[in-house]
Amino acid sequence: MFKARSLLATITLTTAFIVSGCDVKVKPIEGGKEIAQELERHKIKRLTQQDILNAALKHGDSIVVVAQRLQDTRLVEHLEQGGVAAAMPYCQPENYEEVEALQDKFGAISRRISMKPRNPKNKPDALANDALARYSKGQERNAKVEAINQEELLYTAPIYLRNESCLRCHGTVGQDIAEADYAIIKQKYPDDQAINYKKGDLMGVWQLTFDKSDLVAYLNDQPKKSRRPR
Ligand code: HEC
Repeated sequence: MFKARSLLATITLTTAFIVSGCDVKVKPIEGGKEIAQELERHKIKRLTQQDILNAALKHGDSIVVVAQRLQDTRLVEHLEQGGVAAAMPYCQPENYEEVEALQDKFGAISRRISMKPRNPKNKPDALANDALARYSKGQERNAKVEAINQEELLYTAPIYLRNESCLRCHGTVGQDIAEADYAIIKQKYPDDQAINYKKGDLMGVWQLTFDKSDLVAYLNDQPKKSRRPR
């Protein structure tokens, strides 16, 4: 075994000699590039507050984009297959498995809130009131990130009634929503207020809370410090 190895080494060296035409070069360490990349990856980056806010905006946007894209296809699919009763549980994109996986990855928790909620759980708290007011006055249409305190960042983005399929459950009863379907909705949500919307109306706001240390850990490719309970 030892002999075979040293023989191999001799052959390699000789080959290197011949190939380089006697101009002996230091052979690069095998896997050296990968090692350097790995070291770079583990180096703690110096992040400014602005870097962290920018990252929250970027990752918030990707969570919302993925959530809404999945929501649109799932709602249409289930409306076609089984009507409103079958599609009803799918208007909770914040709870989709794929969306939760992204939240865990970036250290975020997401909610959808509304002034006129269907589910009373989705009423805004003090934190979101400002954001809702901003979007409902039309002063702001874009997503925004702000620091809530030392540990948390708040990402908000408006939710508009973006396609016709939303009207089947959030439009006008007797016109967009069949009476029988509305009876099913009311049975589950007796305090429903989320109707009478038209295309393009503001329906609510995405509210994502980022844990700053989790986000920084993600940016540094380090294990997360906190795993917050949901
Ligand atoms: C099949 C019926 C159905 C369709 C279609 C539907 N929704 Fe909903 N929507 C619901 C139900 C049920 C809830 C309550 C979810 C919960 O319990 O959190 C809800 C809740 C919401 C909320 C959270 C605030 C609240 O009212 O509780 C928003 C925002 C919302 N829907 C937007 C939309 C948008 C935008 C579309 C179209 C892309 C849409 N919905 C399509 C049934 C529907």
